[in-house]
Amino acid sequence: MTMSLTTDNGSVGFEALDSEHEVQIELINALRQAVEQGQKGALIDEILDQLIAYTNAHFMSEQLLMRLYAYPFYESHTQEHDHLIEQVQSLQERCRAGDIAMTLQTGSALREWLLDHIKGLDYSLGSYLNKQDSFLPPIQT
Ligand SMILES: [Fe+2]
Repeated sequence: MTMSLTTDNGSVGFEALDSEHEVQIELINALRQAVEQGQKGALIDEILDQLIAYTNAHFMSEQLLMRLYAYPFYESHTQEHDHLIEQVQSLQERCRAGDIAMTLQTGSALREWLLDHIKGLDYSLGSYLNKQDSFLPPIQT
């Protein structure tokens, strides 16, 4: 199942970022579903591995765009990224310790935090990127 972001639910108005955010949110949804369904720890751990790897790659791509287009708020935005990665890693530690209640609670908090980040800092970044003249052409699919 794929979802589409709108301005109301987190679109930043910049397609490349929106599609990566959709994957992030879907991975978090899959995590919640797996925990709620009482799936095996190994499966949950695998989803968390994917979420961490994907989130790292996505943040790198955002940070590259910020560098390429001399985004003035690179430092503060990157600090939030670092903080989010720490949160996902601590979620994985909780999960590995078998603390399912905490995993669910932290997973929900993480989802809210990620949406706040997307609607806040990423929205500002998307608006900034849209205003740049010499933007890279969209990748043809
Ligand atoms: Fe971001």
